[in-house]
Amino acid sequence: MRVLVSGGAGYIGSHTVIRLADAGHDVVVVDDFSNAKPTVVGRLEALTGRPVTVHSFDLTDVDKTEHLFSHEPIDAVIHFAGFKAVGESVTKPLDYYQNNLDSTFSLLRAMGRHDVRTLVFSSSATVYGAEPSLPMTEDLPTSATNPYGWTKVMIEQILTDVAASDDRWRIAALRYFNPVGAHASGDIGEDPSGIPNNLMPFVAQVAVGRREKLSVFGDDYDTPDGTGVRDYIHVDDLAAGHVAALDRISHADDPMSIWNLGTGQGVSVLQVIQAFERASGRPIPYEIAPRRPGDIAASYADPTKANTELGWRATKTIDDMCADTWRWQSKNPNGYPDA
Ligand code: UD1
Repeated sequence: MRVLVSGGAGYIGSHTVIRLADAGHDVVVVDDFSNAKPTVVGRLEALTGRPVTVHSFDLTDVDKTEHLFSHEPIDAVIHFAGFKAVGESVTKPLDYYQNNLDSTFSLLRAMGRHDVRTLVFSSSATVYGAEPSLPMTEDLPTSATNPYGWTKVMIEQILTDVAASDDRWRIAALRYFNPVGAHASGDIGEDPSGIPNNLMPFVAQVAVGRREKLSVFGDDYDTPDGTGVRDYIHVDDLAAGHVAALDRISHADDPMSIWNLGTGQGVSVLQVIQAFERASGRPIPYEIAPRRPGDIAASYADPTKANTELGWRATKTIDDMCADTWRWQSKNPNGYPDA
């Protein structure tokens, strides 16, 4: 297939581009580079051994989106593009709702006009809300604790309604748990701008000496060691899940499908620190800090539905995730170069 990957220059998008190419798909990327460096593209071309077509614009631009679909043959879309910082979404809710929803509307309308009806959407376990029962199964009710999370809930609802309106659609929403790790080459990885919001990139920057110490947000949760428990999933396993989902919806009859992508294993903040120390051979200095507002004690998937229906499962351990993050971080201490 010829697959349009929105946000294909970003962290999860770039790893998925490689997996798609490995599976024999042709890839077209659309990315506005608002949160990605153009230098990722040359690395993708080197790793895949072929040119990657890139369109650089913002999908909220309806005319440019229409122009793309009228000039590129496209069979399917994987939609990653969107704003994703939880804290920022609280201070700039309108930016988040407008950007994440308008880009999806623009994409869906262009897809409908050009009879492209196969779509994989980048959703999040954040849609299970503030007090999920564990492990999380796809049939739990959805809600959110911040505007970013609500955009995921809302887009899932929109996709469900679109799929119900016309049974030619084949749509999947993939609910990611906590993506970490990097490509085995160490040439593609997560490159957050500014101070990382998420645990793994922060730990990696402490290990490489860019930050002095980690703050552990709370050690009094109702978890085995008191720190937050999450289901970390290697980004390459996650990327493989997209290829499996695309394959499945292309051959299945259901207009709308939802799958959790996680390992099913909960790992605490202290366990991540220890695993990263083993992987890097460096100490990770940390201090216990107050809980971060909006955090939940524990989150982990029941991945049975994806395992069974997609024939997919996560294969990599937390040690693999830390080793690959460290390879990326130590080869690229300051992330991707500007040019
Ligand atoms: C966060 C978002 C989630 C989003 C996901 C994307 C919040 C509240 N949630 O998930 O909506 O889909 O990122 O990957 O931001 N931690 C520390 N110190 C740090 C950073 C994190 O102790 O400097 C702890 C957190 O308290 C948590 C765990 O590490 O227990 C993981 O945090 P993080 O990587 O930010 O992911 P989530 O909060 O699970």
